[in-house]
Amino acid sequence: MDHNIYSNSSQEKADLRYLIPEDTYYHGHPEVVEWTTKFSSEAEKYEVFKNIHSALQTVDIAKANKVATAWYEFTTFVPTFLSLAVVLTDDPERQHHLIQIAYDELGGQDKQYIHSKLFLEAIEKVNLSYKKDYEIVNIKNILEGLKNTLLNTNSQYGIVGLLLSFEIIAEENIETLFKGLCFDDNCIALLSDTPFFEIHRADETEHIRHSVANFLRFCQSDESKREFMVSFEDGLNFWRKFWNYIAENLNISTK
Ligand SMILES: [Fe+2]
Repeated sequence: MDHNIYSNSSQEKADLRYLIPEDTYYHGHPEVVEWTTKFSSEAEKYEVFKNIHSALQTVDIAKANKVATAWYEFTTFVPTFLSLAVVLTDDPERQHHLIQIAYDELGGQDKQYIHSKLFLEAIEKVNLSYKKDYEIVNIKNILEGLKNTLLNTNSQYGIVGLLLSFEIIAEENIETLFKGLCFDDNCIALLSDTPFFEIHRADETEHIRHSVANFLRFCQSDESKREFMVSFEDGLNFWRKFWNYIAENLNISTK
């Protein structure tokens, strides 16, 4: 099979984006499909979005500003967390694979595409902003908690597992965020057209595939798979806490 640097040879797959050249675990590879399904079903058991979906049944501007503020905290945390994972990784080849999403989050080769910056530009379009008054103090603590989980991970495969858990529910994260920011009908078109949502709606599948490929590439023994899963579960517990705190906070009125 002829693999060019950004896609495998199949024409319909040639349009799919790849963070780095991939000659084995391309989109649609049977093992990628099988394990993505397994990890997604595992993630579903955590009911990460149960409370936030009910808290977002109605969204006003105060709720939307809280969601925006919490997500901004998160989006600025992401590259530091992913880079720390690389710092803690002891093998250059694994470092190479693990750094790619951090680089992407920081805009790749173009600083105009730094994701946290794109996020601020997106919320500005609908008159939302990062507001100190809307800060959810516990979000910072929860992010700090995830960082500590990473620092305390004494397995190299655990680091890979924590990073997959960070991505596995990315598509639902983005749609939940979108819902939380749409405080009126005009927001739907305005936000959909922003580079932040266009990029995230198009690229999350590649972040997931890339992370599943890291699992397949680096976690081949039973012991490494077991260590990977322990941290994968830690990451899902983080997500449940993250969205639950936002959900609880949305139901408290803000001055
Ligand atoms: Fe992003």
